[in-house]
Amino acid sequence: MPGSLQIEFAPLTQTPAGSLLLLAGEELTLGASARLFDQRTKGQLLRAAAAAGFSGKSKTAVEVLAPAGLEATRVLMLGSGRADKELDRLLLGGYAFAQANQRKGEVATLVCDPVDAGEPGVAGFAADLALGALLRSYQFKKYLTRKEPEEGAEAAADGLGKLVILSDRVEAARQAFQSHKAVADGVFLARDLVNEPANRLGPVEFAERMSELAASGLEVEVLDVEALSALKMQALLAVGQGSVRPSRVVVLQWHGAKSKRAKTLCFVGKGVCFDTGGISMKPAGGMEDMKGDMAGAAAVAGVMLALAGRRAAVNAVGLIGLTENMPSGTAQRPGDIITSMSGKTIEVLNTDAEGRLVLADVIWYAQERFKPRFVVDLATLTGAIMVALGKEYAGMFANDDRLANELAAAGELTGEKVWRMPLAKAYDKLIDSKNADMKNIGGRYGGAITGAQFIQRFIKDTPWVHLDVAGTAFDSSRTDINPSWASGWGVRLLDRLAANYEKGER
Ligand code: BES
Ligand code: MN
Ligand code: ZN
Repeated sequence: MPGSLQIEFAPLTQTPAGSLLLLAGEELTLGASARLFDQRTKGQLLRAAAAAGFSGKSKTAVEVLAPAGLEATRVLMLGSGRADKELDRLLLGGYAFAQANQRKGEVATLVCDPVDAGEPGVAGFAADLALGALLRSYQFKKYLTRKEPEEGAEAAADGLGKLVILSDRVEAARQAFQSHKAVADGVFLARDLVNEPANRLGPVEFAERMSELAASGLEVEVLDVEALSALKMQALLAVGQGSVRPSRVVVLQWHGAKSKRAKTLCFVGKGVCFDTGGISMKPAGGMEDMKGDMAGAAAVAGVMLALAGRRAAVNAVGLIGLTENMPSGTAQRPGDIITSMSGKTIEVLNTDAEGRLVLADVIWYAQERFKPRFVVDLATLTGAIMVALGKEYAGMFANDDRLANELAAAGELTGEKVWRMPLAKAYDKLIDSKNADMKNIGGRYGGAITGAQFIQRFIKDTPWVHLDVAGTAFDSSRTDINPSWASGWGVRLLDRLAANYEKGER
């Protein structure tokens, strides 16, 4: 089970069980508690660590076996770096977990003993380490029936069962971890949804999973094909018309704002449960990755769960457009002209540019119904964004500098980084069509931009950001807090953005 790592907090006075994890700064400086452990070994710990060439550098570790004078069977010393930023502490927690995780079902005790205790943010240190460890402990192995992992299959191994974090602020740590845990739940939900294969998770199954979120306090509505037809969401429905599996739109609402007049924050996600390309079909190689073409929707579900789980003081709505893009006798054809909910007509020149059709209707509906403070949409929209930015930054397109800047700042803090890309009239012209109000593809160049321009045609005067997450949502670079193909990208970013709106009106 994902998140099966059990995490506990205990006072520094508690005798550590299992492996003992100690933090060390550059040049082998130790915090006060770690120093006490070293003294009990008569300085053997530090001598052994130094002899092994360990200098306390960040992202290095050394193992000392059966140190005399301690109950622990082994001590792991970990270079902590400065760890004065939250993200650094998460990464350190993830690294510590990975180092300790090599023994089955064992317990490890991490002494949270900041090397420089005067640094700001120390109150959250233990909770941040815990979140990092938890995020790193994620596994998706529900379809593995064999008990024993293959040699070297780290992801399949059942490692550490329990992590105890010793801190001088146990109560504060527990409290801070409660909301961290809610965020981790959101990240795990997003990862789980993206990791699921499309035969198991189509639009209907995705929507069913969303209905279960009502238990967390979210208000959940599922719109079926009949409801979507009544709303005239013909663009979204056109994408799904080639599939035997019916489309859905899910509306998730969280009412947490203290003020009755607080405007709603709005998140919209592309939820194409599988994207074959439709009649404009994709090549076979790597097509299996298109089970992740609902990663924007998964991130929206994840952040809504996080907001509910930590009882965030905001009003927020998450809208998710769920379809499957298949080729068949009922599929839409290149050249088809559809009328979107907004009334604008679209000439579908490539059925593989389907995400923007889904978003066009859901974003229109979101603005009509909720008059939101802003709309942020997330979509695995284009391969072109990976050509531009690789797999490190998501592409950000915005009609509002302030919202864009807030997201950029949230990206730096969470490590879910965004890079702003241009929107301009000259690009917008590229999607003009002779036969309809617009076409769904631009020219050969600037594919991520013309995708964004298309979406912008469905934005009224709402502050809006489009995040093209094709490079970051899955198969992105693994980090110390992301061991999985599905990264859960966006949940922590949007949670942080929402947190900006908790402190009074902005
Ligand atoms: N879902 C894809 C984009 C994608 C590709 C996401 C690879 C993640 C990894 C999207 O629906 C798509 O097919 N986009 C086309 C647009 C083109 C036809 C204008 C693309 O990027 O090739
Ligand atoms: Mn496509
Ligand atoms: Zn797609």
